[in-house]
Amino acid sequence: MELSEAIRGRRSVRRYTAEPVSREVITAVLEAACWAPSGENYQPWYFLALTKAEDLAALRQTLEISAKVMEPELRRRFAAAPAVVGETTAFIRTLGGAPVCVLAFLRRQYPRREVMILSIAAAVENLLLAAHDRGLGACWVGAPVCCGPGAVITERFGPPRGELAAMITLGHPACVPAPPRRRSGRYEIR
Ligand SMILES: Cc1cc2nc3c(=O)[nH]c(=O)nc-3n(C[C@H](O)[C@H](O)[C@H](O)COP(=O)(O)O)c2cc1C
Repeated sequence: MELSEAIRGRRSVRRYTAEPVSREVITAVLEAACWAPSGENYQPWYFLALTKAEDLAALRQTLEISAKVMEPELRRRFAAAPAVVGETTAFIRTLGGAPVCVLAFLRRQYPRREVMILSIAAAVENLLLAAHDRGLGACWVGAPVCCGPGAVITERFGPPRGELAAMITLGHPACVPAPPRRRSGRYEIR
């Protein structure tokens, strides 16, 4: 797939089929993540791909709190499109039936935390594009980090991997949403 096509064609997929993702494909996607640039080349990430039913169930249980915490904020943000609120909270609770959920950890404390979090974000974008390139769907789930159970997930799955920084669902798409509109006027060249 052409890179420009991958960049524009990638979508946040929130519903998956039950078809498993092979270990080989998961490995390829995680390898792509690890080729991201990073501040001072620290490569501060560690990825844990959860595929076992009991781990995914435990994860979903922790996310109930995120859905509750996020709901009022989502109601304000999407006042003009209330269906989005139900869809988003349902996705957070169920993870869309994703057969794989990748936890991205910040491995340890580093001198410049912001730069290290940005480095992990770069790795996650690589992961999303590599998944799309292989016909998979994925969605970055910020909810557990910003709203509730990040510390609980870190406690359960972190040691010795680090602190939860991002979560990504992965699987074969059951449906692919239409591209959300992109705003204009977000750059200039001078
Ligand atoms: C840092 C970050 C956190 C996100 N967290 C969530 C989330 O918690 N739940 C969700 O449904 N989508 C989440 N998304 C996906 C965005 O909603 C999505 O990228 C945006 O609506 C644009 O759609 P697209 O990815 O299909 O282009 C997140 C995206 C980013 C970059």
